[in-house]
Amino acid sequence: MCGIVGFTGPQQAAPVLLEGLKRLEYRGYDSAGIAVESGGKIRTEKCSGYLENLVKMTDGGKAIPGNCGIGHTRWATHGAPTVTNAHPHISNDGHFAVVHNGIIENYAQLREELTAKGFIFYSETDTEVVVHLLDMYYTGDLKRAVMKTVARLEGSYALGVLCDEKPGELIAVKNASPLILGVGAGENFFASDVTALIGHTRTVIYLEDGEFASLTPDKITVYDPAGREISKPLSQVMWNTEAAEKGGYEHFMLKEIMEQPRALKATIEPRVKNGEIVLEGFQFGSDQLKEINQIVITACGSAYHAGYVGRYIMEELCRIPTRAELASELRYSKPIIDERTLLIVISQSGETADTIAALKECKSLGARTLAIVNVVGSTVAKLADSVLYTWAGPEIAVATTKGYTTQIAVLELLAVYIARQLGRLEDKRYKQLVRGICALPERCQRAIDLNRRVEKLAGKHYKKTSLFYIGRNLDYAVAMEASLKLKEISYAHSEAYAAGELKHGTIALIDENQLVVALACYNALFDKLVSNVKEVKARGAQVLALARESQRRIFAEADQVLLVPETDELLMPIPEIVPLQLFAYYVAKAKGCDIDKPKNLAKSVTVE
Ligand code: F6R
Repeated sequence: MCGIVGFTGPQQAAPVLLEGLKRLEYRGYDSAGIAVESGGKIRTEKCSGYLENLVKMTDGGKAIPGNCGIGHTRWATHGAPTVTNAHPHISNDGHFAVVHNGIIENYAQLREELTAKGFIFYSETDTEVVVHLLDMYYTGDLKRAVMKTVARLEGSYALGVLCDEKPGELIAVKNASPLILGVGAGENFFASDVTALIGHTRTVIYLEDGEFASLTPDKITVYDPAGREISKPLSQVMWNTEAAEKGGYEHFMLKEIMEQPRALKATIEPRVKNGEIVLEGFQFGSDQLKEINQIVITACGSAYHAGYVGRYIMEELCRIPTRAELASELRYSKPIIDERTLLIVISQSGETADTIAALKECKSLGARTLAIVNVVGSTVAKLADSVLYTWAGPEIAVATTKGYTTQIAVLELLAVYIARQLGRLEDKRYKQLVRGICALPERCQRAIDLNRRVEKLAGKHYKKTSLFYIGRNLDYAVAMEASLKLKEISYAHSEAYAAGELKHGTIALIDENQLVVALACYNALFDKLVSNVKEVKARGAQVLALARESQRRIFAEADQVLLVPETDELLMPIPEIVPLQLFAYYVAKAKGCDIDKPKNLAKSVTVE
C-alpha cells in the first residue's frame, strides 16, 4: 500500500529514488512521484500510471539534479490515481515536500481547519494536510514543526519530509506503517521495505511506532516520540539483491513459483536437527501447551488459506479444537478467547492492517500469541509473544506463492511439534511426518517438473470466464488458494467450493460453459470426490482434475489431469498447489495480463 523512499548523499538523488521505487512498485503502482532538493529549492515530478512513465519523463532521473530527495509509488485510497493526487505533496509556499504511506484518519477536520486558515488544497488526498501543517508550524526549527504536526495526526503514517531550508536533510516518521532506515557510507536512506535498500546497504535501523529520524549524508539521529535523541541498534539484512530481482524470468511470480523448493528448504532445514523438530522462537513448553484448549488461526487472503490448511492438520494431529478465522471478521466478532487460547497469526508482510488489529484484540483478551511471518522486524512479528519466520526471502509479485507454501511448511512443523510435545504422536508416525516434511522441497521440485505442460493446458482454457475449484478436506483448503490465484491475476471469475456442498444450490450454475477443477489428492475421500466429478460431468462441465501420480483411476473420470507427486496425506497441500499456481500464471499470461501488478491490488494491505 504505497511505497516511500528517501536518499541523501553525494550521488544524484533522482536515479537512486527511481531505482528504489522500482523495487517498491509492488506496493502500489497507480501513480508515482519524486521531489529533489537542490541549492535550497525543491523540484517535483509526478505521473499517473506506472513508474516507467516517471522514468521516461525525467530521463531516468537525470533531468532533476540534486543530492537529497524523496519518492513515492501510490496505491490510491483518497482520490483517484491522477497526477494531482500523486505524491509528493508540496506546501503552498513550496518550502516543504511530503510523501506518505498510510491513512490520516482525521484529515477531514484538519482540512477544514487549514482551509479556514487560508491554506489551499489541490488534491483529494488525506496526505496534503501534513504538508500544510508543517508549513503552519515551521518557524526555523524543523524537528519542532514535525513534532507539532505529528501530534495532530490520527491514523497510520510513514512520512518522508523534505524542507528547502535544510539542504541535505530528510525527516522520516513512523507510526503504524512500515519504515526502515538504511545506513550507508557517507549516504543514508529510508524506505518502506528493505528491498529498496539492499542494492546500497544491508545495514538498517528498524524504527518503532512514534519514533522519527533526521538523516543527513553523514548522520542519522533517531528521536523518541517526546523528541529525545535515542540510540538504536544496527541490524544486518540477510537478503541480497539477487533475491529481489527477476533473475531471467519473465515475471517475479514465475520466479517465485520456481524458487519454492529453495524457499522451503530454508524454512524447514534449520528446524530439523537429528530427526527432531526444533522450533527456536516458539516459547511455549509442554506444560503451557497442555493448558491450551483451543487454537485460533487468523490471517487475510492467501495467508488465511494457509491457515485453513493448518487448521485441518493441527486438529488432526494435536486433537485440540482449531479454527481458522478471517482477521477482518475476527477483529469485530467479540471472539471467545482467553489465556487458554493459542492464537496463530499468519502474514507474509507482517504489516496487514486487519491481521494486526485481530492480533491486538486477541492479545487484549489474554490469548497466547504466535506469529508466522516472512518480513523480519515487521509489526506482526514485534507484537506477538513468539515468532516463527518463514525465511522465504523477499516476495515481490503481488500474488503470493512461496509466501503461502512456506507458511504451510511452518504450520506443519508446528503441528507435528505440538502433537509430539503433548504425547499425541507415536514415535513411528512422528518420524514418518518429519521425514515427509524434510522431503517437501524435493516433492515441490517434482511437482514443477511433472507439470511442464501446464502452459499448453492453460492455452486451452484461458478464455473461460467462470471456473469452479472443488475439493474435500485439505483439497478444499487448497482449492480456496488455487481459485484466488486465478482470479487475482487473470480476472476470470472463479469460486472454490467444498465438493460435497455443490448439490445444495451451486450446482445450478454448472453447465457446458464451466470448467471445474477437481482436486482429488486427499485419498481418504477420493471416491466421494469422484462422485462429485460425475455429477458435474453429467451437467456438461469440463473437468480438469488434480490427482496423485499413482492415482490412475482419475484418467477415466476427468477430461484432463494434472499430476502431483506422492507424499504423506497431511503434507499434500504444498506439492498440490504448485501446478495450480502455474495454471493461474499461464492463464493470465495467455490473456496478456500484467501478472506482477494485477489491477486494483497491492502487496502489503495496510488499510482496513
Ligand atoms: C494473494 C495475496 C493476499 C495476501 C493477503 C495477506 O495472492 O497475496 O491475499 O495473502 O493480503 O497478506 P500478508 O500475508 O502480507 O498479511
